[in-house]
Amino acid sequence: MKAAVLETSPGELVIDEISIAKPVAGEVLIQTLASGLCHSDLHVMEGLLPNALPAVLGHEAAGVVQAVGEDVPDLKPGDRVVSCLTMFCGVCAECAAGRTYLCAKRRSLASRSDGSPRLSRGDGEPLHALAGLGGFAEEMLVHHNAVVKVPDDLPLVQGSLLGCGVLTGVGSALRGAKVEPGSTVAVIGCGGIGLNIVQGAQLAGAARIIAVDLHDSKLELAKTFGATDVVSASGGDPVVAVKELTKGGVDYAFEAIGLTATAQQAFEMIKPGRTAYLVGVPPIGAQIELHGAMMTLQAKGLQGLFMGMSRFKEDIPMMADLYLQGRLKLDELVAATITLDQVNEGYEVMRKGTEARSVIVFD
Ligand SMILES: NC(=O)c1ccc[n+]([C@@H]2O[C@H](COP(=O)([O-])OP(=O)(O)OC[C@H]3O[C@@H](n4cnc5c(N)ncnc54)[C@H](O)[C@@H]3O)[C@@H](O)[C@H]2O)c1
Ligand SMILES: [Zn+2]
Ligand SMILES: [Zn+2]
Repeated sequence: MKAAVLETSPGELVIDEISIAKPVAGEVLIQTLASGLCHSDLHVMEGLLPNALPAVLGHEAAGVVQAVGEDVPDLKPGDRVVSCLTMFCGVCAECAAGRTYLCAKRRSLASRSDGSPRLSRGDGEPLHALAGLGGFAEEMLVHHNAVVKVPDDLPLVQGSLLGCGVLTGVGSALRGAKVEPGSTVAVIGCGGIGLNIVQGAQLAGAARIIAVDLHDSKLELAKTFGATDVVSASGGDPVVAVKELTKGGVDYAFEAIGLTATAQQAFEMIKPGRTAYLVGVPPIGAQIELHGAMMTLQAKGLQGLFMGMSRFKEDIPMMADLYLQGRLKLDELVAATITLDQVNEGYEVMRKGTEARSVIVFD
């Protein structure tokens, strides 16, 4: 089958013919139908996030179950599924406490316990799969708790985005920060993640949602997702602008880019007693400097949010239903559909920052 493989980092993806194993106990084989381009893979391609290589990238995918191994209670061939990188064991202390997104076994579920490869090249060289998924391939072989069944009438191009961008963004507002009705919110960075934080804040009933981005096209899009105000980061200090608009600061600020400077901005634009949320992933090793005294004397906090702190087996079907009821925007997130061969061009578009999501559609 065809897959996009990252050989070296930094590096570009290479389209290659690779082999995939048959599902053993607990595994599911999926025919991939759509796979979104998330910035986290670009961080790996740019060498900002480490990952074992060579690896098939892609983690925001949807498809149809082809085959299941033994001990897969909840899936059968023909089921339409969305993948999620917060795969979980269901029995560790975090899972037992309901925090499946922090499962202590997540990393070990990303590969087989006996060490045999799920993916390999023709010559037998094993290949890794990003986050245990490898969505930039015609098929995926994953742990059954890495996917969730979705309704048959959910279109999977849009549905693939539920697997990361939507779950992370909407989840960050609803589950992570628990945005309250009537509150004020700022979202710095309006890509696939930030636009979904905006619509999550709208779903939560926020009174004022201020979108911040470098590109006017993104700010216009943010308005259609529920932003009540927009601030161009290319025209001055967004902290000053947000504080002016709100006469002193917001209740919630989200960083959705992965830069230390914008994480500082998020912290500075919240009111005393509030928390700023880091959703973007800064380069590994980067340190964020905060005014320590401001943190104590103004009782301010900065918290990271992972995958929206969402239990995806519940939240992805819930978000799919909201879409099917016309209450969640997914169509507007898809800026372009591309082929697997065009994946590097898709990431070139992401580097420019002007468009929402590109989604790979498989034949
Ligand atoms: N926390 C999580 O669980 C999680 C999950 C998925 C992705 N992420 C991370 O979220 C971040 C965003 O991902 P994405 O797919 O939305 O990326 P994206 O490239 O689609 O969007 C980034 C946006 O930020 C804007 N931007 C860039 N620099 C800016 C600046 N200085 N000020 C204001 N806006 C600026 C760009 O114009 C673009 O609209 C990445 O770091 C990604 O790794 C985190
Ligand atoms: Zn992602
Ligand atoms: Zn667990």
